[in-house]
Amino acid sequence: MAKMWAGRTDGQTDKIADDFNSSISFDSRMFKQDILGSMAHAGMLGKQGIIAKNEAEALIVGLSEVLADIESGELQFDETSEDIHMFVEQELTKRLGDVGKKLHTARSRNDQVALDTRMYLRDEIDTIVDLIRKLLESVTDKAQQYKEAIMPGYTHLQRAQPITFGHHLMAYAMMLLRDEERFLDCRRRMNVSPIGSCALAGTTYETDREFEAKKLGFAGVTLNSIDGVSDRDFCVEMLSAMAILMMHLSRFSEEIILWSSWEFKFVELSDSFTTGSSIMPQKKNPDMAELVRGKTGRVYGDLMALLTTLKGLPLAYNKDMQEDKEAVFDACDTVKMCLEVFAGMVSTMTANEQNMLAAAQKGFINATDLADYLVKKGMPFRSAYKISGQIVAKCISENKVLEALTLEEYKEFSDLFDEEIYKEIDLKACVEKRISFGGTGFKSVENQIKYVKEKLNK
Ligand code: ARG
Repeated sequence: MAKMWAGRTDGQTDKIADDFNSSISFDSRMFKQDILGSMAHAGMLGKQGIIAKNEAEALIVGLSEVLADIESGELQFDETSEDIHMFVEQELTKRLGDVGKKLHTARSRNDQVALDTRMYLRDEIDTIVDLIRKLLESVTDKAQQYKEAIMPGYTHLQRAQPITFGHHLMAYAMMLLRDEERFLDCRRRMNVSPIGSCALAGTTYETDREFEAKKLGFAGVTLNSIDGVSDRDFCVEMLSAMAILMMHLSRFSEEIILWSSWEFKFVELSDSFTTGSSIMPQKKNPDMAELVRGKTGRVYGDLMALLTTLKGLPLAYNKDMQEDKEAVFDACDTVKMCLEVFAGMVSTMTANEQNMLAAAQKGFINATDLADYLVKKGMPFRSAYKISGQIVAKCISENKVLEALTLEEYKEFSDLFDEEIYKEIDLKACVEKRISFGGTGFKSVENQIKYVKEKLNK
């Protein structure tokens, strides 16, 4: 069949060129945005007298019928159509005859595809933000549940200082809050309408771009028609927000994987979010967390693919830009799945508080508190640090913990020690004392939880 754009050429393309050129297999998911965009366009053409009012009405009714038929499954996408824009217009013209051919007045597929993609991604951001908030809720509820569960906090993956599991989980809550903000920020910049930029230079018709933008829920219009059709920053920005979100989820995944190992045994994932091995009967594998960690690479790849596609691309529209959609759609699908799985995995996860506490009791993670005790008694920090180090060395050589040394043994290192030292190095006390804003103290974590809950209730 000759192409709708047959004119200068006879429109008879080679089958392999058609297949190569076609994007309908992946852009058909924008059918709703495409049709709503066209309805607003028809409305604008009628209002401005560019086409007759009754023609505009016929187009709008026709388009709404095409939409209904796609949604009901009655109308199937024609895989030989070049893209979703051509498909909808072809179908409309099939139904309405010559009137259908008026729809594309004062527009181009270049501004149309930019419009559809913005509208589609805007909806995707709304879905992703909802999912982030659900995950935030699971994480915060878990933190609430374990706000007093003491565990070792790590630096260099070495036991460092006692914290609570609640405090550790709330660190992820803060990352997710930033993710939410990043998506909303990206949405704000995305939410301007490019339609009316036409091919690149605007048009000779007296269009009303603001009217169309308002109808489609945009906050404004793009200011330069060349930029309107060339800009894919909104895709790149959204991809980078998705890459950062996945980076957070992959760090969280890694910790969950470590924590559920026999070596740690800090958490136990629910059977409903783990898998068994086909050969080793004892296994319970954290596959969900591993997959999220793995899929992070894929989302980074999507971001790099689009950045590379756009690099050095001249203005305005180039067909290279058709490559934007698969990258950004793949990342959206991946991110949505990961967020959903993660929320389920976290809310069904249980902590082994005894093991966490036992791990916290080893590794001298109260050594800083030992030094601070001497400082409070008047010793300069550097000297206190050195003495505490010597005491730790003694414990290591005698295979003891700090709590097990007698007062006489302590006094061999400094006269400043008295009975109070045992209270000072008690793990619960170590946590409780960390009263600084944002610190691991129970009250502080309680405040962090409250802060996030308030944000979630807004
Ligand atoms: N399918 C195309 C895309 O996704 C639509 C824009 C086509 N414009 C053009 N001048 N060929 O980018």
